[in-house]
Amino acid sequence: MGTTHEVDDSMRVRLRLARPSDGERVRAFLETLSPETRHRRFFSAMPTVGERMVRHFTYFDPRERLIVVAAAMTDGTEQIVGLADVALLETGVAELAVVVDDQLQHQGVGKLLTEVIASLAMHQGATHLRAQLLEHNAPMLALMERLGRTERTARDGVIEVITKLPEAQRRAAA
Ligand SMILES: CC(C)(COP(=O)(O)OP(=O)(O)OC[C@H]1O[C@@H](n2cnc3c(N)ncnc32)[C@H](O)[C@@H]1OP(=O)(O)O)[C@@H](O)C(=O)NCCC(=O)NCCS
Repeated sequence: MGTTHEVDDSMRVRLRLARPSDGERVRAFLETLSPETRHRRFFSAMPTVGERMVRHFTYFDPRERLIVVAAAMTDGTEQIVGLADVALLETGVAELAVVVDDQLQHQGVGKLLTEVIASLAMHQGATHLRAQLLEHNAPMLALMERLGRTERTARDGVIEVITKLPEAQRRAAA
């Protein structure tokens, strides 16, 4: 984290932990997401972005939950273009969810976010990452499969995906 990454020819993205002062940036990001992207992330069209949702992404106890933002500078203003959250459970499982700006999808931002989240989760002792996906979410499935051996279970149109984090990397993270 901390380094910048080029995601297309003109934009550089930096990954960092979210902070309370990100409230308006998080709101602006969530409000620009298409209904399809919101549905895939929140399992609902979420027509309005409430204060509770904004706080979810800006206030967290790092022993229990981590929120990573992908931020880009546009005209001297920092803008959030991706958001990943992970809840660290005592079982060694870390529950992951990710969302990327519609205009920037398929350019590697999701890959950056999931790699950083996996590494942070491993540092906190996680052995597995879990995510809930709607059916046909091939990009998110591909991102999980990149991280390690992945198994999926389908129930009522939702797929639970669980990825075993590689042992060698876990040892390096410890
Ligand atoms: C899922 C999501 C976060 C991915 O972000 P992204 O920035 O587009 O992801 P990337 O560009 O880094 O990588 C996408 C991967 O999916 C693959 N992919 C894309 N479309 C695909 C398809 N139709 N079939 C198979 N793989 C596909 C890409 O090849 C890439 O894999 P690779 O790195 O092994 O080549 C983004 O699409 C999103 O915000 N979706 C809506 C929210 C969501 O579905 N969240 C997941 C539920 S928590």
